[in-house]
Amino acid sequence: MEYILVEKLDTKVGLIRLNRPQAMNALNSGLMREVIETLTAFDQDPDVGCVVITGNEKVFAAGADIKEMAEASVVEIMNSEMIGIYDRLRNIQKPIIAAVAGVALGGGCELAMACDMIIAADNARFGQPEINLGIIPGAGGTQRLTRAVGKAIAMEMVLNNRWLSAEEAYQFGLVNRVYSTEVYLSEALRIAAEIAARAPIAIRMAKDAVNAAFELSLAEGIRLERRNFQVLFGTSDQKEGMNAFINKREAKWQGQ
Ligand code: CAA
Repeated sequence: MEYILVEKLDTKVGLIRLNRPQAMNALNSGLMREVIETLTAFDQDPDVGCVVITGNEKVFAAGADIKEMAEASVVEIMNSEMIGIYDRLRNIQKPIIAAVAGVALGGGCELAMACDMIIAADNARFGQPEINLGIIPGAGGTQRLTRAVGKAIAMEMVLNNRWLSAEEAYQFGLVNRVYSTEVYLSEALRIAAEIAARAPIAIRMAKDAVNAAFELSLAEGIRLERRNFQVLFGTSDQKEGMNAFINKREAKWQGQ
């Protein structure tokens, strides 16, 4: 890998570190390709139960690579693999946590929002500064941000380049938790390890059902949830989980 560092931890956590520090981790096509290839491999790997994507202590990612996009035509940007990869991210079935320190701007904020949870360091800042480049967010920024923080704050961020501090992002519901810069990554890895130790098929069904809440009507969403719930009664993990509860012992999950 040229632009990312990849580790598989013995806690069943897959770790991806964005690693273009000289360019503020700008998300060029090569980097995004490496991210999606690694996520796809983790998704198929039974030794990975949850993934963490992080940058470094100073920057998560300063957005799409402006130098790569600057001269693109409409057709080139329509065909751009870089933007399309955000859609492929939605098909990853295992949970993904973004551990964000420093700036998450433009496509960087959009990458964090495409994950299932965001753990922030207290120096994290979130923004959609595309308007300063004469464009708008193109990888979910206007949609996921608005669903997370509401219209008022999203409009200010997208129209007028307001950045949110970690604390504000927490208050507005964009991030799950805020920790000091010293421990944000270890805390994200701890939460990821907890999730990775849970019943894998139930975790997959749970992620699928919560995500459906953003796309379906209430009636359709409840129907999908009901089916996912019912399907889990065909797993040995459901029998194990309920037997373990009844017999007052720890459950041993098989992912079956
Ligand atoms: N693309 C390409 N290169 C970038 C970059 C980006 N998004 N962000 C930073 N860099 C590069 C800079 O060009 C600079 O490179 P050189 O040393 O070769 O000049 C290097 O990273 C360091 O950056 P700065 O000197 O600007 O560092 P700073 O500390 O003064 O400022 C910053 C940091 C506030 C993040 C600033 O770099 C910045 O504003 N970056 C652009 C943020 C932005 O507009 N993001 C949106 C991109 S468009 C998008 O993401 C579209 C989409 O929806 C998918």
